Amino acid sequence: MLQKLIAGNWKMNGSLAANQALLTGILAGLAERAPACQVAVAVPAPYLAQVQQLVAGSAIALGAQDVSQHAQGAFTGEVSAGMLGDFGVRYVLVGHSERRQYHGETDAVVAAKAQAALAAGMTPIVCVGETLQEREAGATDAVVQRQLAVVIAAVGADVARLVVAYEPVWAIGTGKTASPEQAQAVHAALRTQLRAANAQCASVPLLYGGSMNAANAQQLLAQPDIDGGLIGGAALKPADFLQIIAAAA
Ligand code: 13P
Repeated sequence: MLQKLIAGNWKMNGSLAANQALLTGILAGLAERAPACQVAVAVPAPYLAQVQQLVAGSAIALGAQDVSQHAQGAFTGEVSAGMLGDFGVRYVLVGHSERRQYHGETDAVVAAKAQAALAAGMTPIVCVGETLQEREAGATDAVVQRQLAVVIAAVGADVARLVVAYEPVWAIGTGKTASPEQAQAVHAALRTQLRAANAQCASVPLLYGGSMNAANAQQLLAQPDIDGGLIGGAALKPADFLQIIAAAA
């Protein structure tokens, strides 16, 4: 069976001192009990060099939270995939709902970002998810499948190199988690969509994100189509993040 992937998304949190304390705690836990899953942390861009050094030689892979769709040039404030590559970045979140919501990222922009990450040899973690209003309107599957379809169409055969994260917007940072059954149902639909695009996509990891924590991780990760988690708040506390990693064993 594929190893699960537990990825922390630090969002816009941290400082040199806080990052060091957090990673020291996580690494100490992993030294005591080696993870039986893949582990990654997606950190704010200014801290890539710091975290690259801290996780060197450990089981933790480095991730970024966003990437420009452009390779270089006059795009003030943007960070290219090539720049991320200079710091050993392996995973890049694209299309997080906070980017879609607060920075106007469209499905097409998200797809272009996934392409940029792939071209630089990184693994995009493509985030999809419905709002509460969309769920209540019965549009969940239609929304997440539309979001994913644009990426599938853009990346062609590279679709097998993606990771997909289902993050219902209403569950992010709210303490309201999708039930294991709700999450499993959406994951199964996404799996079917990926398989229809390319037979090799049956093995694309599907992560769940949205208030996953030490208490609910085990049940969510036990679902047949949940291959890991994308963790926000609980990834900022070493003990909680370690418990989620242990639940993925
Ligand atoms: P929370 O775990 O804080 O709900 O955040 C989830 C998320 O957005 C991860 O990308």
